[in-house]
Amino acid sequence: MTDITFMLNGEARTIAVDPHEVLLDVLRDRLGIKSPKAGCNRGDCGTCTVLLDGRSVRSCLILAIEVDGHEVTTLEGIAADGLTALQESFIAHDAFQCGFCAPGVILTATELLRDNPHPSMEEVKEALAGNLCRCTGYRPIIDAVMAAGGEP
Ligand code: FES
Ligand code: FES
Repeated sequence: MTDITFMLNGEARTIAVDPHEVLLDVLRDRLGIKSPKAGCNRGDCGTCTVLLDGRSVRSCLILAIEVDGHEVTTLEGIAADGLTALQESFIAHDAFQCGFCAPGVILTATELLRDNPHPSMEEVKEALAGNLCRCTGYRPIIDAVMAAGGEP
């Protein structure tokens, strides 16, 4: 086991990890962070998405030891208080049904809107291409992201 220290949702955390443990398992099973979901466990579905130093990554593909000294943000940590405008927009647009994809989608869209506050529909589709949703047909998700970016 190897000790790692990293910032998790704004708080310094130190934990001993096996060199083979993936970040997703450490977050969910050992640190009580349940928003990243284990969908495919092979990088295909995006349900495990977290932000690593502000960039969306698949936590099922990242070894926990790789985040030593870095900053990890999950859905639990994106709003200091209450919900973000994007989360409110998801509610207003019924952009989830079962909700399994939502944490990953919202984190990916949070990154998009930070870098590009007024994305076109094509840019939203492109940004979310790696986040699969079985339920919504994607249109409500796209509408919610565009509305949160100031589009009608
Ligand atoms: S669980 Fe990581 S991409 Fe599917
Ligand atoms: S709301 Fe069910 S997978 Fe997206």
